[in-house]
Amino acid sequence: MFTLKKYALPNLVHFRKFSLTAALSSDELVVHRDSPDNNETTPFEFTDANMTRLEAIIKNYPVGCKRSALGAALDLVQRQIGWVPISAMHKVAEILGVPRMRVYEYSTFYTMVKRSFKGKYHVKVCTTTPCMIMGSDIIMAAVEEACGAKAGHVSPDGLFGVEAVQCAGACANAPVLVVEDDYYEDVTVCDVQDIICTIKNGGIPPAGPRSGRFAAEPSCGLTSLCSEPPRPGHGLQHALLK
Ligand code: FES
Repeated sequence: MFTLKKYALPNLVHFRKFSLTAALSSDELVVHRDSPDNNETTPFEFTDANMTRLEAIIKNYPVGCKRSALGAALDLVQRQIGWVPISAMHKVAEILGVPRMRVYEYSTFYTMVKRSFKGKYHVKVCTTTPCMIMGSDIIMAAVEEACGAKAGHVSPDGLFGVEAVQCAGACANAPVLVVEDDYYEDVTVCDVQDIICTIKNGGIPPAGPRSGRFAAEPSCGLTSLCSEPPRPGHGLQHALLK
C-alpha cells in the first residue's frame, strides 16, 4: 500500500528547489560607495552645448515640471563623459531643483544609466525569462568570450563592458543583445561573434533582428493580415449599404 512516508519522503531530497536566488554575476550594487574616481568632488560641468540642449529640453515641459527632464539630463551627462558619477547626479538635481534622492532613485533603477565606467561599448545581455528560455545563458557565454570580459566587468583594453540586464523590452525577438543604443535581436552565437568582431574592427553592425524577419513579425511568416483587407461595408446587410 502507498504511503507518503515510505515512497515520497526519500525522494524529496532529489527534488529541484522551487526557487533559487539568482547568482549576482553582474548587477552592481544599487547603493553608491565613494571611490577615488567617483565621489562628490569628482569634477563635472555640462559643456556649453549640452547646457543649451538641457535648457531646450526643460522648456518642453510646463512651468514647475522641469523635474520631468531628469532622464534626458542624465542621458546628456552620459553622452558627454561616458558615464554618470555621483557629482553629476548632484549637478542634475541642482539644475532641476529636485532632491538628490530623486536622481539616485532614477539612476539605480534604470540600467541604461551607467554609474561607473562600462567600457567604450556597453554590451548588455538580457537574461529575463523569454530571453533565458531562448538561450541567453549561451549568448552571455559567447559575449564574455568575444569581449574578453566577464559579466559585470570591463575588458582589459577598456573597449567592452559586459552586463546582464533585466528585460530589454524586445521579448518577441529574444534573445536580445544591446550595444549602446542598438538592439540586436534573435541573436545566435555566430551573430554575437560577428557583432563583436565588427565593432572591434571599427564598424557598427546594422541593428535589428538577425533572423531575417522584419521587426517582430512571426518567425514562421505572417499568420494574419495575409490577404487583401475587406473593403468598407464588408459583411453588412444589403439594406444598410444603400
Ligand atoms: Fe529579454 Fe524581454 S525578456 S527582452
